[in-house]
Amino acid sequence: MNMNRGPFQAVIESKEQISPSTYMLTLQKPEGFVEAMPGQFVSIKIGDSTSPLLRRPFSIMDSTPGSLLLLVKDVGPGTSYIVSRKPSQTLDLIGPLGETYFDIPSGEDAVFVAGGTGLAPLVFTARKWAKDHRIGISHFLYGASTERELLTGICREDFTYVHVATLDGSEGFEGDVVKMFNVLREKGALPERYLFSCGPAGMVKKLMEGGTENFKSHQTSLETVMACGVGACRGCVVPLKSSGAPVYRAVCSEGTVFEADDIDWENWRE
Ligand SMILES: Cc1cc2nc3c(=O)[nH]c(=O)nc-3n(C[C@H](O)[C@H](O)[C@H](O)COP(=O)(O)OP(=O)(O)OC[C@H]3O[C@@H](n4cnc5c(N)ncnc54)[C@H](O)[C@@H]3O)c2cc1C
Ligand code: FES
Repeated sequence: MNMNRGPFQAVIESKEQISPSTYMLTLQKPEGFVEAMPGQFVSIKIGDSTSPLLRRPFSIMDSTPGSLLLLVKDVGPGTSYIVSRKPSQTLDLIGPLGETYFDIPSGEDAVFVAGGTGLAPLVFTARKWAKDHRIGISHFLYGASTERELLTGICREDFTYVHVATLDGSEGFEGDVVKMFNVLREKGALPERYLFSCGPAGMVKKLMEGGTENFKSHQTSLETVMACGVGACRGCVVPLKSSGAPVYRAVCSEGTVFEADDIDWENWRE
C-alpha cells in the first residue's frame, strides 16, 4: 500500500499544560493525513538544525476529521522544543506510523492499564471503539508518582470506571498501578476479557508476572527508543518467543501493538 505519510507541516491550534511537565497539543490535521488507528504514532522533527538529529515519536491521542491530539511530556531537548512551540506555529511530522493497532470485538468489556504518557494511545482506543459502539464496560487504571502528575482529568468521560494510583498516596490507591491492578483483580472487580496496556516495559512485565493469562487478549503498545521510525534501521526491534531461530519485530513498522504474550520478555534488552 502506497500511503502518503508526509512530512506534513501541522499547525498548532492550541496548547494546554495539564501537569507540571505535560502538555496537550491540538494540531490542525494536515491535508492528506490518512485516518489513524489507536496505537499509531507520529514522528516529529526537532527544530531546523541537525541537533537533535532524530525525529521523536509520539502516540496519537485522538484523531478527528479536523484535528490530531498529542500528549507531550517534557523530558529532554526534543520534547522541550515541542512544548515551547506556540499556537499558529507548525510542527513537521510524518505519520501515521505503525502497522498494528489496539482492537476489540464488538461488545466486549475492557481493562486499560497505563503509566505516564502511555495514557495517550489508550484514550484514543477507548474513544475510537466507543464511537463505533464496540466497547462494553471499561476500566481505566492509571498510575503516577504523585497527584499533580495524574493526567486522568482529560479522560474521565472516556471510561466507565477510572482508578488512580499514586506512589506517594496523595490520591487514590497508594502504590504503583500494577499493584492496584492485582488488588482489583483479586477482589473480582475487573472483567477479565480484553486487556490493553501502554507504559514503560517494566510496568508491562510486572503486569504479566502478576498473571494476565485469564484475559482473552492482552495487547500492549511498546515504547522503545526509535531512530528512523519507519523500519529501516532495526534499532527498535523486540524479540518474539520462538521455538527455532530468534524472531525479531521492529516496533515502529511492525508494531507498535503486540500480543504481550508473544514477546520474549526475558531476552528483550531495551
Ligand atoms: C511509539 C512511541 C510513542 C510515544 N508516545 C509518547 C507520547 O504520546 N507522549 C510523550 O511525551 N512521549 C512519548 N514517547 C516517548 C518520547 O518519544 C520520548 O520521551 C522523546 O523522544 C524524548 O526525547 P527528548 O529529546 O525530549 O529526550 P531525550 O533526552 O532524548 O531522552 C529522554 C528519554 O526519552 C527516551 N528517548 C529518546 N529518544 C527517543 C526516541 N527517538 N524514541 C523513543 N524514546 C526516546 C530516552 O531513552 C530517555 O529515556 C513515545 C515513544 C514511542 C517509542
Ligand atoms: S526505529 Fe528504525 S527500524 Fe524502528
